[in-house]
Amino acid sequence: MGRIEGKVAFVSGGGSGLGAAMVGRFAEEGAIVYFGDVNAQNGAEVAEATGGVFVEQDVSREDHWVSAIRQIEDQHGRLDILVNNAGILGPGALETIDLDAWNRLFAVNVTGVMLGCKHGGMLMQRNPGGPSGSIINISSNAGILATATDCGYSATKGAVKLMTQSIAINFARRGLPIRCNSIHPGPIDTPIFDQWKPNEKAAKRLEGTLLEMIPLGRLGHPREIANMALYLASDESSFSTGSQFVVDGGGTSALAGL
Ligand SMILES: NC(=O)c1ccc[n+]([C@@H]2O[C@H](COP(=O)([O-])OP(=O)(O)OC[C@H]3O[C@@H](n4cnc5c(N)ncnc54)[C@H](O)[C@@H]3O)[C@@H](O)[C@H]2O)c1
Repeated sequence: MGRIEGKVAFVSGGGSGLGAAMVGRFAEEGAIVYFGDVNAQNGAEVAEATGGVFVEQDVSREDHWVSAIRQIEDQHGRLDILVNNAGILGPGALETIDLDAWNRLFAVNVTGVMLGCKHGGMLMQRNPGGPSGSIINISSNAGILATATDCGYSATKGAVKLMTQSIAINFARRGLPIRCNSIHPGPIDTPIFDQWKPNEKAAKRLEGTLLEMIPLGRLGHPREIANMALYLASDESSFSTGSQFVVDGGGTSALAGL
């Protein structure tokens, strides 16, 4: 208990899945937690369950980031932890990609992360006592190994990995002790896969494919990602920046079928 006591945190996409688990986990460990989401109903429920402060936010909109960060600065004067977690799946096969869906994917998964780093990072530089903080960007195992079926999702998650490294070394070389790392989850049991549920056959096929790629033989739990985020949010990870933290049940260590 108390591993991030008194620190001020913001988690994007905190209304569901991994984000909701991080909001709860950070609050358990003593942080003051703000979180954003486009889904106001889920946001209200997570706020009720965790004590986190909900801010309605679309991560692709710079004005939403400006007002969320201003609210935190007005109320606490600092930001210690930022998790850029909000993300969506891509439009699928190359031949059928709809350009509006493609642009939306990049707006949420890439531009949203950049805007969070920009505005959250600027408040971290103004922290009383000098610049400090930890930025955690949620990429994916698909940001390390490519999926054949969704080039857009892989491209956005690969972009998050290198954006994280660029921001980390930029801060470090300027002498700013603000760390920036990425987490690469494998398949985790969250509502992100709900779109397949109405089609029982497709859902079964997806689950089978996901399980096949995990040597540990099960999907991950949101809390297992929240625990990694907690480590990176805390001072326990003080020498880590620009690094990739894989939490995937061994998936990216295995050669398929061998
Ligand atoms: N679940 C997995 O297997 C898995 C694996 C690897 C990476 N990820 C990544 O983890 C992150 C969280 O995924 P999840 O599984 O919890 O998904 P989820 O769908 O359960 O939660 C995502 C949340 O983001 C919100 N959101 C979507 N668009 C938004 C926007 N424009 N602005 C603000 N909020 C927005 C949604 O309303 C939702 O509450 C995503 O970046 C996802 O790509 C998930």
